[in-house]
Amino acid sequence: SPSNLQMGESSMLERANCRAKGGAPGFKVAILGAAGGIGQPLAMLMKMNPLVSVLHLYDVVNSPGVTADISHMDTGAVVRGFLGQKELEAALTGMDLVVIPAGVPRKPGMTRDDLFNINAGIVRTLCEGIAKCCPNALVNLISNPVNSTVPIAAEVFKKAGIYDPKKLLGVTMLDVVRANTFVAEVLGLDPREVDVPVVGGHAGVTILPLLSQVKPPCSFTPEETEFLTKRIQDGGTEVVQAKAGAGSATLSMAYAAVKFADLCLRGLRGDAGIVACAYVDSKVTELPFFASKVRLGRGGAEEVYQLGPLNEYERIGLEKAKQELATSIQKGVSFIKK
Ligand code: NAD
Ligand code: LMR
Repeated sequence: SPSNLQMGESSMLERANCRAKGGAPGFKVAILGAAGGIGQPLAMLMKMNPLVSVLHLYDVVNSPGVTADISHMDTGAVVRGFLGQKELEAALTGMDLVVIPAGVPRKPGMTRDDLFNINAGIVRTLCEGIAKCCPNALVNLISNPVNSTVPIAAEVFKKAGIYDPKKLLGVTMLDVVRANTFVAEVLGLDPREVDVPVVGGHAGVTILPLLSQVKPPCSFTPEETEFLTKRIQDGGTEVVQAKAGAGSATLSMAYAAVKFADLCLRGLRGDAGIVACAYVDSKVTELPFFASKVRLGRGGAEEVYQLGPLNEYERIGLEKAKQELATSIQKGVSFIKK
């Protein structure tokens, strides 16, 4: 009966809380947009993460089904579902980390900026909920256009008087995941051995892979540099075209989101030396937001690293990236300030 189900759920929650109190690692994570193309595999992978003790799955449709399904996995995290705006506050209360893949994806022929009109409002509503219910939570923002949605989130948080720049992270990990894969292919290496910093933002020319800083140290011909840079910048479009109207990257994005969220949780736990690329409040350039390597700690992005030495090709790319980024940032800021 429903009451038995509820009793089972609350006693499970109690046990999860006990585990957390007993010193076992256990963070509370919410996914907003959990029934979507990214949300579903992201929820599954989060349920498999031993650092997660409670997993809240929120969407405006279909979250009960996804929750019932995921909750049968015999891993530690307790899963609870939340449906529709009236349950947003309950979904957010007490969360340590909020991951946001809510919003519409691209179809062939669209830019990420074409999603602004719908997704800007969705991100604003969700961030207002965060400001009210879990103002100290770390936020991983996936919804596009990331170059504008992160400034939108920052403005919402500023308006609410709770903005902590260290806690707001635009997720650019998929660009790094793609760069590692494509560079490994060219070098004939295992992608797990390759580390490519990708800076700037998350759209077209704002995605700037620093191929001169690849680990392990290596060199590329001008043709290889051109080919790899373009392929990394157009990776999202490659998937959008292959899916031919059925959406954009979901599975590789869920993988990248969980890889990034796991690093955030390790940082929150106090692990040393956790570094990842993310789009954050930044003083690295003259722009107020920029993606670069950050050190993740108990407070979120505790340190934002400088770009390091760039070659001529990268310096030209940086100027192009900054031009487009400035416009996208301004568009996000004025959406809230207007
Ligand atoms: P999708 O349409 O499959 O899923 C989106 C989900 O969001 C749906 O379940 C929908 O019901 C939900 N949603 C809509 N409005 C909501 C609201 N107000 N509150 C909560 N949930 C709401 O789309 P997808 O393929 O999962 O992509 C989601 C977003 O992620 C898109 O904007 C896409 O462009 C973006 N994305 C970003 C990256 C990145 O690297 N940052 C990568 C891939 C996709
Ligand atoms: C991606 O890089 O795959 C996402 O930003 C989705 C898209 O629209 O390309």
